[in-house]
Amino acid sequence: MAKTFRVGMIGYKFMGRAHSNAWRQAPKFFDLKGNIELNTICGRDAKAVQAARAKLGWEKAVTDWREIVESPLIDIVDIATPTNTHAEIAIAALRNGKHVLLEKPMGRDLKECETIFAAAKKARGVHMLCHNYRRIPAMARAKKMISEGALGRIYHFRARYAQDRLADPEFPLDWRLQKETSGSGVHSDINSHIIDLARFLVGEFTQVCGVVNTFVPERPVADLLAQGTRKLGKVTVPDAAAFLGWMDGGVMANLEATRYALGRRNHIEIEINGSKGSIYFDFEDMNRLKYYNGGDPLDRQGFRDIIVTQRDGVQPYVSHWWPPGHGIGYEHTFVHAVADFVNACADGKPVQPNFEDGLKNQRVLTAVEESSAKGKWLKV
Ligand SMILES: NC(=O)c1ccc[n+]([C@@H]2O[C@H](COP(=O)([O-])OP(=O)(O)OC[C@H]3O[C@@H](n4cnc5c(N)ncnc54)[C@H](O)[C@@H]3O)[C@@H](O)[C@H]2O)c1
Repeated sequence: MAKTFRVGMIGYKFMGRAHSNAWRQAPKFFDLKGNIELNTICGRDAKAVQAARAKLGWEKAVTDWREIVESPLIDIVDIATPTNTHAEIAIAALRNGKHVLLEKPMGRDLKECETIFAAAKKARGVHMLCHNYRRIPAMARAKKMISEGALGRIYHFRARYAQDRLADPEFPLDWRLQKETSGSGVHSDINSHIIDLARFLVGEFTQVCGVVNTFVPERPVADLLAQGTRKLGKVTVPDAAAFLGWMDGGVMANLEATRYALGRRNHIEIEINGSKGSIYFDFEDMNRLKYYNGGDPLDRQGFRDIIVTQRDGVQPYVSHWWPPGHGIGYEHTFVHAVADFVNACADGKPVQPNFEDGLKNQRVLTAVEESSAKGKWLKV
């Protein structure tokens, strides 16, 4: 009989909602190798976590994450809290033999990431980092095309993760804009996603040369603003970052992460050029992958649109959803991550991206920040 995995999730806001939905939907749409029980949800405010429990569909609510990681009933610990809490919770969960799904970025800095990965290596639980964008069907399709040689030798990897909410200088100073809680702000928050995609699609970074910046150095403190007081506090992390890089096999890379791109809400743009063809992707049109085949006859050359919704095993993941052309969205990427994670837990086998990937991603993030401070190229 299939094992039932009892899940304990910590954090119930943005990612807590996305993950709750994924835990609920995954067994309804995928044939999982284990059953899922949404057992316990954790938040620090007793009243608010009870409300979240009822709304998001969990059995129990607790206010101390230790109750989850130490409970003999819990099999899977899902960490959907700010970055400063990741190391302590993840390490405790691993030491207690739990399987761990951890939100990105893995930690605040290289040292924290090394510690988390060291704990993972000693643990028996399966670990996965929630870089959900790897599981967009179009990205999984791109990976397959590149692996099969459809693009030939890869020359360029370009990615841009652009949002615009910080363009308003009155946007509040929340945990993401403070070093103590976030690590390195927009750089680790969203550059980590496209670094992870670059590594997934193309390979490892070998050298980087970057610039990080803080365009708006002070903002109204979020907690005080919520109480009706406007007091400015210091932004202590980068709020934009860009870098050039060399990757395995001599691939040239350029990546940019910003929240100052007015008009861009969640624009993840990727273009990869190879000796035989190119692909182009834009998350705001996430069911589509553009593909240029350099081998097409001259009279019909051009980017073609692959609508990545064909079922019956043609395109990754989508056989589990709707008829061709009906499309899926952001939330499905989390369902795919949860489905793959549960199957890996049932098999007791590694799944990617895992905490080794988290450490490798962090090495790139750290090298970019150091390169910006020193004004020179650095090895990763
Ligand atoms: N994969 C993605 O696409 C994606 C998107 C957004 C955020 N994230 C990541 O998810 C994590 C959470 O981000 P978010 O946007 O959900 O943040 P959020 O501010 O919306 O929610 C954070 C939650 O954590 C809770 N929390 C904070 N400290 C806690 C503690 N000590 N014990 C228990 N609960 C605690 C808060 O009460 C809140 O419920 C971060 O690591 C972030 O980088 C990932």
